[in-house]
Amino acid sequence: MKNIVILISGGGSNMAAIARAAQKEAWQEKRGVRLAAVVSNQPEAKGLGLAKSLGIATEVLSHSSFDSRESFDAALMARIDRHAPALVVLAGFMRILTPGFVVHYAGRLINIHPSLLPAFTGLNTHQRAIDAGCQVAGATVHQVTTELDHGLILAQAVVPVLPGDSADTLAARVLTQEHLIFPQAVRVFFEFGGGIT
Ligand code: GAR
Repeated sequence: MKNIVILISGGGSNMAAIARAAQKEAWQEKRGVRLAAVVSNQPEAKGLGLAKSLGIATEVLSHSSFDSRESFDAALMARIDRHAPALVVLAGFMRILTPGFVVHYAGRLINIHPSLLPAFTGLNTHQRAIDAGCQVAGATVHQVTTELDHGLILAQAVVPVLPGDSADTLAARVLTQEHLIFPQAVRVFFEFGGGIT
């Protein structure tokens, strides 16, 4: 069995999109790919309830219980490694990771970022795209490297920036596309990019 561990901090809608694709397409039965656990660094993350409702095991590891980034990441690695993951997915996991963490999962760590990388790394991507006068925006799934929001691009989706858009309306438009490209990038990672067969 190839285990996936998904890390979240918030709503978990991308996690749910991957979980729903996995269930609908019988990844476990047909591909031997299983969502082993959803781990949140935020005890109140809405995505925890969503994961439970989808039948996925959840765990909480609150970063505020640790006095350094290194000690939190070491504990997080220990949690994740209990599942011997083939893939670790950052799905709205709002933490900067230490180089030790990233190197440990090199080649099996992917992230979704709400911009068309390499444009707009970091935070407030939608407002920055609007302020820059961009006519398109989007999202990127990429491999994680020690440089924030860099790494090999695995999938991208483009949406228009419409007159009158706020950061929220643009974010909502981008998010609907994130829910398509993230499951697809996971399928491709496990080399069954064609989807349902
Ligand atoms: C998504 O838009 C994702 O791209 C973004 O957080 C949101 C999480 O939504 N990620 C980042 O900004 C990472 N730097 P979700 O919890 O509903 O999946």
